[in-house]
Amino acid sequence: MSLTLFSTHPTPPIGTVHPAPQLRVSATRLDTATLLDIVGGLARAEDLWRPHVVHDTEDRARVRLLATAAYEVWLLGWSPSQSVGLHDHGGANAAFVVLDGTLTETVAAEPNRRASTALVRHVLAAGDAVTVEAGQVHDVANASESLATSLHVYSKPLRSMGFYETARPAVRGHRVRTLWIDDVPPVVNGDDGGPPDAGANIATVPRSDSH
Ligand SMILES: [Fe+2]
Repeated sequence: MSLTLFSTHPTPPIGTVHPAPQLRVSATRLDTATLLDIVGGLARAEDLWRPHVVHDTEDRARVRLLATAAYEVWLLGWSPSQSVGLHDHGGANAAFVVLDGTLTETVAAEPNRRASTALVRHVLAAGDAVTVEAGQVHDVANASESLATSLHVYSKPLRSMGFYETARPAVRGHRVRTLWIDDVPPVVNGDDGGPPDAGANIATVPRSDSH
């Protein structure tokens, strides 16, 4: 699901009192509607993320911005032509919003399938947000000629990603490898003062070794 956040969530006037939101929690995995609320709110808190925006021509720049037991927030910087590849989030729900530039999301045309021989692409401009249900397969790329920045929230925190065949249409949708994300860097604003542009240490294992 995608929608535009910035124009539909005006900042409430100072002094307005709102009731505490009702978190929709299921075994510490927040649903995508809640994640969309979280990432939309954080996107509007520009002072929180803007100082940590980085881009790297070698790879996507990943900054672990916030972390709780239930969800984790990553700030990503995309140089032109950088992409993830068709992937899932290892059982985590997710939502992300484009902060700067333009990104292209590729998803299976049939939403009830983990992956499909038919793929569709959506161009996302700054302010556009997307939800990704656990088990859903997608790809995100910067197909533009400019830098792009996005903010991603995962629940539970992202600790693995499954990657899928894309080159051969006859077997597209087959998971071919799993990336285990262990030994994540400290959050950028944490007390432990981790480096602002640290990426996760990512181990790649063949599918036969995963579970
Ligand atoms: Fe993703």
